[in-house]
Amino acid sequence: MMYSVLKALCAIPLLCSVAGSAKTSFALQQEETLDQWLEAEGTFALQAILDNIGPNGAKVRGAHAGIVVASPSKSNPDYFYTWTRDAALVFKQLVDTFIAGNYDLQDKIHEFITAQAELQTVSNPSGTLSTGGLGEPKFHVNQTAFTGDWGRPQHDGPPLRATAMITYAKWLVDNGHVDAARSIVWPVVQNDLAYVGQYWNSTGFDLWEEVKGSSFFTAIAQHRALVEGGNLARQLGVDCSQCESQAPQVLCFLQSFWSGTNIIANFGGDRSGLDTNSILGIIHNFDPEADCDDNTFQPCSSRALANHKRVTDSFRSIYPINSRIPSDQAVAVGRYAEDVYYGGQPWYLATFAAAEMLYNAIYQWNRTGEMSITDVSLPFFKGVYSSAQVGKYSASSRAFSDIMANVTKYADGYLNIARRYTPCSGALAEQFSKADGRPLSASDLTWSYAALLTAKERRNAIVPGPWGQKSAHDVPTTCSASPAPGRYQTATITGWPSTLTPVPTSPTPCPAPNRVKVTFQSITETKWGENIFIVGSVAELGSWNPEAATPLRADKYEDSCHMWYAQVDLPAGARVEYKYIRKSGDGKVVWESDPNRSYKIPKKCGVSSLTLKSSWR
Ligand code: NOJ
Ligand code: NOJ
Repeated sequence: MMYSVLKALCAIPLLCSVAGSAKTSFALQQEETLDQWLEAEGTFALQAILDNIGPNGAKVRGAHAGIVVASPSKSNPDYFYTWTRDAALVFKQLVDTFIAGNYDLQDKIHEFITAQAELQTVSNPSGTLSTGGLGEPKFHVNQTAFTGDWGRPQHDGPPLRATAMITYAKWLVDNGHVDAARSIVWPVVQNDLAYVGQYWNSTGFDLWEEVKGSSFFTAIAQHRALVEGGNLARQLGVDCSQCESQAPQVLCFLQSFWSGTNIIANFGGDRSGLDTNSILGIIHNFDPEADCDDNTFQPCSSRALANHKRVTDSFRSIYPINSRIPSDQAVAVGRYAEDVYYGGQPWYLATFAAAEMLYNAIYQWNRTGEMSITDVSLPFFKGVYSSAQVGKYSASSRAFSDIMANVTKYADGYLNIARRYTPCSGALAEQFSKADGRPLSASDLTWSYAALLTAKERRNAIVPGPWGQKSAHDVPTTCSASPAPGRYQTATITGWPSTLTPVPTSPTPCPAPNRVKVTFQSITETKWGENIFIVGSVAELGSWNPEAATPLRADKYEDSCHMWYAQVDLPAGARVEYKYIRKSGDGKVVWESDPNRSYKIPKKCGVSSLTLKSSWR
C-alpha cells in the first residue's frame, strides 16, 4: 500500500520524495547503449581526474599543485598519496587529450611537470636524486617523502613519467617551441632517463608493489622511454647516450619474458606469471605505426594475442560473476589469479585494459590491411572465430571482416562488464566484487578513470602518437647487461612562458551548435519531502538565486539508484559554475559543500547534447 502511494507520487516529478535506503546507488544501466554510457562516463571521468589533482581538485584540495592523488580515500585503504606510476599514466592521457585539442589542460600539464621536477629532489628512503631516489614509488601529497615501510624501489615510475613528459616535449617541438622543450622539459626528462639507463638491470618491486625481481611491465616501459628519449634528444641536439646504448639491451632482455605461450609477468615470486601486468605493459607500448611485431609485443602480435587469451581466461573460473559466461565472451579481469589483496577481486582498470589491447590490435589490422594467424595466436583466434586457421588474411577476405567484427564485439564485452558493475553515479573505484560486482577498495581511483578514457578513445580509433617502434624493434644477437652510470642534475622550473599557449586554428568541419542540451544528474539520497535543485552562475540556472533554481526530476529514483536529473539548454562555449541544493518541505535550503562545480560547455561540431553525472557533495 505504502509502496504504491510512493510510486504514484513519484510519477509526478517534484512531488516525489522517497524514503532513504541504506543501500548504495548501484544499478545495471540497461536503458543506455554502450556508446551512450561511454560518452557520459568519459565526460565524467575527465572531471573526476581533475577533481583528484592539486591544488584545486574538488576532492583533494590542499594537495600540492600538479600532484595527482591516487584516490581521495584516506582509510580502508589510505590512498591519499601520489604514486609516480599512477600520476604518469594519468598525465600521459591528459597530454594526449591536450594534443587532441583540449587546450584548457595546458596549465595542469605545466604544473605536473613543475611538481615532478621538485619531487625528483626530495630525499626519500630510496635515496637522493643521484643515489636512487627516483625509484621511490609514492610521496605525500604535499611533496614530502613517505618514510613508512613499502615495496621499494619501483623502477617503472621514471620511464612512465619520462614518456608522459616526452609526449608534451614533442608537442612543444612540433609547435615551434624547441627552446622550451630543451630548457624546461628536457632537464627533468633527462634525470628520469639517466635512472632508467642506470637501473634497468637491477631488481625492484613490480607495479603491484608485491614482487621483488624483474617485471615485464617495467621492462617494456623502460624500453619505450629510452627509445623515444633518444629520438627527442637528437631533435633537441642534446645528449642521451645511455638511451642509444641501453635501449637495444633492454629489448634483448624483454624477450626473456616470453615463455612460448604467454608472457611471464615477473622473474621472482612464485606465481603462474599470468598477470594483467603484461596487458597493461602492452597497451602503454602500443605504437599506431607499428606492424604486428612480436619483439616489441605490439597489440596485434601473435605473442600479445596469445597472452591476452591466457591471462583473461585465468579469471573465468575464480570469480563467481564470471561463472556463467560462455568461453567466447568477455569476463571481469583482475590483476592475477593468485591475488589476495582485498580478497583478490576484479579491477576496473584491468578490465578496461583487456578491451583496449584489442581495440589497438583492430587499429593495427585496419592500418596494415592484413591479419596473420600463427600457431602461437591460433588459440586466441579460435576463441573468437571457431573456424580460424593458421594463415594470412587480407582485408578484402571474408574471414578478415568476420574476425574483425567478432573481436570488436568481444572487446566491447569487456567494457560492458565494467559498465554493468559501475554504479549509476559513474564513480569508478579500484575494484569490484567477484561475488556480486559491487565497488570495492579505493573510491574514485584516478587511474581507473584514465583507463576508461584510453579504452574509450582506442575504441573510436583515436590513438596516441608513435614512439619510434619502427626503427627500434631489432633485437641484438647477443644480450649484454652493462647499464650506463647516470648523470643527475637538479632541474628547476621557475615558470612557463605564456607564448606556449596554442592558438586554436580548428578548421570547422561543420558548424558548432550555439546551444547544448545538458542533462544534469545528481545521485542523491533524499528523505520524504526533500527535493533537489540546481542553481548556478548563468540565467538558465537562476543566477545563484535558490528561488530561481531549476528543479530536478525524481521519476527515475529507485532504491538501487538515487537518480535526480534535469535537462537545461545552455549556451555553447560558456563556462558555468553551479551547485546542487536540497530543499526540504519546510522551505529550508541546504547547499552542497565547496567548491562550486564548474564546467565549460563545449562548442564543438556535432555536440548538441551531453550528460553530466555527479553525486551529492
Ligand atoms: C598495497 C599495494 O598498493 C597493493 O598493490 C598490494 O597488493 C598491497 N599493499 C599488499 O601488499
Ligand atoms: C595499488 C596498485 O597495486 C598500484 O599499482 C597502484 O600504484 C596503487 N594501488 C595506487 O593506486
